[in-house]
Amino acid sequence: MSFEEMWAALEPVGRRPDGGYDRFAWTGPELECRAWFLDEARARDLEVERDANGNLFAWWLPESGERGDAVLTGSHLDSVPGGGAFDGPLGVVSAFAAVDALRAEGFAPGRPVGIAAFAEEEGARFGVACLGSRLLAGAIDPARARSLTDGDGRAFADVVAAHDLDPDRIGPDEDLLGRIGCYVELHVEQGRALEVPVGVASAIIPHGRWRLDFAGEGNHAGTTLLRDRRDPMLPFAHAVLAAREAARRHDSVATVGKVHIVPGGVNAIPSLVTAWLDSRGPDDAAVRATVRDVHEAALRAGADHRVAVTLAEESYTEIVDFTTALRDRIVTVLGGAPVLPTGAGHDAGILSARVPTAMLFVRNPTGVSHAPAESAERDDCLAGVRALAAVLKDLARG
Ligand code: GLV
Ligand code: MN
Ligand code: MN
Ligand code: MN
Repeated sequence: MSFEEMWAALEPVGRRPDGGYDRFAWTGPELECRAWFLDEARARDLEVERDANGNLFAWWLPESGERGDAVLTGSHLDSVPGGGAFDGPLGVVSAFAAVDALRAEGFAPGRPVGIAAFAEEEGARFGVACLGSRLLAGAIDPARARSLTDGDGRAFADVVAAHDLDPDRIGPDEDLLGRIGCYVELHVEQGRALEVPVGVASAIIPHGRWRLDFAGEGNHAGTTLLRDRRDPMLPFAHAVLAAREAARRHDSVATVGKVHIVPGGVNAIPSLVTAWLDSRGPDDAAVRATVRDVHEAALRAGADHRVAVTLAEESYTEIVDFTTALRDRIVTVLGGAPVLPTGAGHDAGILSARVPTAMLFVRNPTGVSHAPAESAERDDCLAGVRALAAVLKDLARG
């Protein structure tokens, strides 16, 4: 199957009427994407592996049958709510297409070439970004992962158990990690930073997610006097504005993109507002200062309105500097390419703590991501495939 045919097969999966994608880990559309991955792997006689954390791998083994020192590529197939088509799938489809291109020219790898589809990269269902790669790399306590719940209160442990994974076996897999010689993830660029078809990542800026709970008192919207109210919506609103101000002050970014209101009635003062803060910045200190300022503003407003405010960190990723030697080698293979940092998180950022890691970016003409307008031109995607094939060939030669 060509790149275009693979793309066309995936395109309708989980697509909403507004053009955005809902492919949440272990739900129908994401399971369809997984089935697609396995079909593509089997159609190419690649060896399929699902690890204890639900990450998928397709291995092209060398003649020798050697399994170690693999060159791994790939990305993820899940999406944010209403996400774009490219974030994740572009890296997986490009990986299969790059393997096809290498086979078509008769290349025989001297090291295994693997294609990965990491589970729950976006954390859209269980809240922790890159959950599959974090578990694999030992970057999250398996006990904590087991107890994560989705929006319907279903525990991660129960959900994966329903898909034939043993929840007691999730966690770091030293055998699998030991087989990965390096990881190169191709991804659509997610801002306006790339002006040529293909670039190479230098770094991922520090980023994290925090949960803010504002607990007030539910009551009637018509009969409750203003002075009697303990309305959690008010300190929540202060926190949103404080996030913008704090980000401005600390040269960071801060986003409140998800909020849950209990009970959510037009004519009821809420009893509880839960909001999630995403903050990223040039360094640890900037992000920490941003979150601290938002927390303090929320506590102050909470005290004014007799609302209890709590803050909990859900995930945090320190700055990731991709392996310089690997990055330089890739730039050389590509005959030169822009090297740029990103504000988006990736499984590559998690794996980089354990194996040499690099990323290729494909230009995004709209500069939009995590939304339906996310895009990449067909010719740029094909340039990405050619770049990835050249990199895999260089890294996997005998
Ligand atoms: C993932 O794409 C993220 O940066 O949140
Ligand atoms: Mn994303
Ligand atoms: Mn992604
Ligand atoms: Mn303003």
